[in-house]
Amino acid sequence: MPKIIFIQPEGQQTELEVPNGTSLMQAAMTNGVPGIVAECGGSAMCATCHVYIDDNWQAVLPGMDAVENEMLDSVADERRPTSRLSCQVLVTPEMEGMTVHLPGVQV
Ligand code: FES
Repeated sequence: MPKIIFIQPEGQQTELEVPNGTSLMQAAMTNGVPGIVAECGGSAMCATCHVYIDDNWQAVLPGMDAVENEMLDSVADERRPTSRLSCQVLVTPEMEGMTVHLPGVQV
């Protein structure tokens, strides 16, 4: 199970061992990592599971579809080139050690 590191805006880190195929949103919610709301439950309809994933991990991320791209225009915090919806990123072995930054606000 890849280790994923969630980092709060204030710098607090939570390391989780996440089963392959689990979304970053599910992993955070299941383990009580603060900072993700996920109002729609993972359907790419709410934009309250926004995260930032560092540039050096972009190559291992799944492609972004049009729905996710559109929803990212609705995030509460700043949209950046590294913005993703965490419900749309399923963990793979290549993500071992990946860092995921939570935004300051979700709603
Ligand atoms: S949980 Fe709603 S868009 Fe990800």
